[in-house]
Amino acid sequence: MKAVVWHGIGDIRLDEVADPRIEDGHDAIVRITRSAICGTDLHFIRGTMSGMKEGTILGHEAVGIVTEVGEHVRGFQPGDRVVINSTMSCGACRYCREGHTAQCDVANPNGPEAGTCFFGGPETTGPVNGLQAEYARIPWAQNTMTKLPDAITDDQAILLSDIFPTAWFGAQLAGVSRGDIVVVLGAGIVGQFAVASAFKQGAGRVIVVDGIADRLDRARALGAEVVNFNDDDPVEAVMNLTNAIGADCVIDAVGIDAERPKSGPAAVDGEDGKAFDEEVQQVAPEADPDGDLWRPGDGPSQASRWAVEMVAKYGRIGIIGVYSPLAEVYPIGAAMNKNLTIRMGNCDHHSVTPPLIDMVAAGVFDPAALITEHEPIDDAIAAYEAFDRREPGWIKVALSTGA
Ligand SMILES: NC(=O)c1ccc[n+]([C@@H]2O[C@H](COP(=O)([O-])OP(=O)(O)OC[C@H]3O[C@@H](n4cnc5c(N)ncnc54)[C@H](O)[C@@H]3O)[C@@H](O)[C@H]2O)c1
Ligand SMILES: [Zn+2]
Ligand SMILES: [Zn+2]
Repeated sequence: MKAVVWHGIGDIRLDEVADPRIEDGHDAIVRITRSAICGTDLHFIRGTMSGMKEGTILGHEAVGIVTEVGEHVRGFQPGDRVVINSTMSCGACRYCREGHTAQCDVANPNGPEAGTCFFGGPETTGPVNGLQAEYARIPWAQNTMTKLPDAITDDQAILLSDIFPTAWFGAQLAGVSRGDIVVVLGAGIVGQFAVASAFKQGAGRVIVVDGIADRLDRARALGAEVVNFNDDDPVEAVMNLTNAIGADCVIDAVGIDAERPKSGPAAVDGEDGKAFDEEVQQVAPEADPDGDLWRPGDGPSQASRWAVEMVAKYGRIGIIGVYSPLAEVYPIGAAMNKNLTIRMGNCDHHSVTPPLIDMVAAGVFDPAALITEHEPIDDAIAAYEAFDRREPGWIKVALSTGA
């Protein structure tokens, strides 16, 4: 079958690989009908999330049809149409029973201390072959897949695999409640869904910060107020918009590949620039950019810093942008001095997604409207490159497979 395979930092290929097969009684095999490229995948190719194993199939977002189930999978049968959660969970350990499925004690083959197990990630997350392929093996299938109603299309469902639940979870981590002024850092697809999620959870206003104009235009269309950090100082802008109080909540939908402003009043230079350069060295020691491709973000802690600066005293920060274990810079003293609450993590997909499926099926919200590109898996590498360069319009790429 065809699959997108990680060979090295800056080196991914569309390969012909062996079809997956059942390896454990809890597995299922799914024929993938829709997959997608995520901002998380870029961290692995830029080298800002290290520890990938050569040969790992990339991708952790997919929709498909079950073709085979292992002997312990009792709730699914061949022919079922499912959305696959990005994170795997056993469904029976203490964490799973609490709904904290991203910290399942059992799913990660590296043991309970290893943390989240997800598809197509570094060795410490499994590694489990990913979903940018024609077929996939789904470990712990009973908890890792959710059945889809016929009313939901593949294009709607693909955003229920990771993006919508992650953004919803981010708004929950930030404690969004009625009337809050919420800042969303990052207007990528996760940021766009964070805007929608914050409004649905009661936010009174949502302010979105990014440096890319066409992404900000989309956020404005969702009802957000927007700030381009290459034109305005985002901390000053948020203070101006909140009577100098700051935001009630900030959702960080940027993560480790954060950029520093290149122009405008917030442009970074001098000692601050050198400090960022050192951070890049620390978090992406093996980065290997090819011209403007696969470049790590040049301000790894920029979003963290702004979040702490622009949130009100006693404010709340929810971090869903991914940071690798090598990221050690955080403005903890400034946060302490403002009595902030900071929560973070990988989405508990199994617990978060089901009510969102109902919301989409009921027509409350159409996530498919936010997919900007549809590409066949044969064109996946070129699509990755355009997405990595953040070419205008390339916010979310859905991949279709012809299997
Ligand atoms: N926690 C989870 O479960 C989970 C799940 C999915 C994705 N993620 C993470 O969410 C983040 C966003 O994902 P995406 O697919 O939208 O990625 P993306 O790369 O498409 O979007 C990131 C956006 O952040 C913007 N940005 C860069 N520097 C910034 C800064 N200093 N301030 C504000 N905006 C800045 C970029 O211009 C870009 O538009 C990634 O880090 C991804 O790994 C986390
Ligand atoms: Zn994702
Ligand atoms: Zn578990």
